Amino acid sequence: MNPSNASPPKAATIEQTVSQPEYHIDLLDLKTKKKLRKDTIVTIVNDPVYHKTKKYKAVNALTLIANEIDLRKIDANSTKIVFECRDGYKPEMPLALFLASKPYLAFKDVGAKGADWEPISKNGNKMDAAPFYLVYTDASTKDDRYKWPYNLMKIHIEPIDKSKTALYPKDPSRVAGYTLFQNQCITCHAINGIGGEMGPELNYPKSVTEYWVETELVNYIVNPASFRNKVKMPTLGITKQQSQEIVGYLKYMAENKKGN
Ligand code: HEC
Repeated sequence: MNPSNASPPKAATIEQTVSQPEYHIDLLDLKTKKKLRKDTIVTIVNDPVYHKTKKYKAVNALTLIANEIDLRKIDANSTKIVFECRDGYKPEMPLALFLASKPYLAFKDVGAKGADWEPISKNGNKMDAAPFYLVYTDASTKDDRYKWPYNLMKIHIEPIDKSKTALYPKDPSRVAGYTLFQNQCITCHAINGIGGEMGPELNYPKSVTEYWVETELVNYIVNPASFRNKVKMPTLGITKQQSQEIVGYLKYMAENKKGN
């Protein structure tokens, strides 16, 4: 580290880890500090949340990120972008894919009457997309590599293998369960503090495998609605055998707890 080369401090907080730095951008903080910069109107044909053509007031997400972070210091191919939503949902995508697209942070729905947003109906509840909804003017809504989070609060830039390094099992027979967990569960659930927060942490301090009867836990993961009224966890299309693999991995992780 050579202090004479240090660039002026940016609003984003930077956390130096062993190998690769992480960056955290608090969008509401930028808004409060009036650092969102120039807005524009974007039109989204076949919007995936509203299922129709929508127009939003938005800021260019690439410009916003480039203003906060020196992207030249980042190897996009080994980095991911993680979106943190108000309810703790945390979808992610490769940074390289994000940087090659045309993402915008929408903050107002132009067509909404008397409000900033047209309401969204979800599980019979009315909600809206505030404070930010990430949209793309060039990505197909059918391409599920692109994430379109609403209620977006924060953006994190992290090493692509962050959860892999921390949560990858040393026991090869647990890798299948690990892979299923990474693909289906980690957006909503953390293990050892790593992952989404929409659902509960599943490993620390007490693993779900320590207080659920195993067969019931397997069934719950397959069909949560058969256990709980108005359940928030979706039925994901997991087979019983896949659920068994996941539970095997969770039992393995119960032997490898770490507070975070
Ligand atoms: C969209 C978010 C979401 C996804 C994806 C998700 N869950 Fe959940 N999960 C929840 C929420 C929210 C709860 C809290 C209970 C509820 O549904 O209201 C929950 C509850 C649970 C519980 C019960 C915890 C307890 O202490 O009783 C388990 C076990 C669980 N989830 C496992 C999984 C596994 C394994 C996967 C992946 C196959 C998964 N979940 C995917 C949101 C999610």
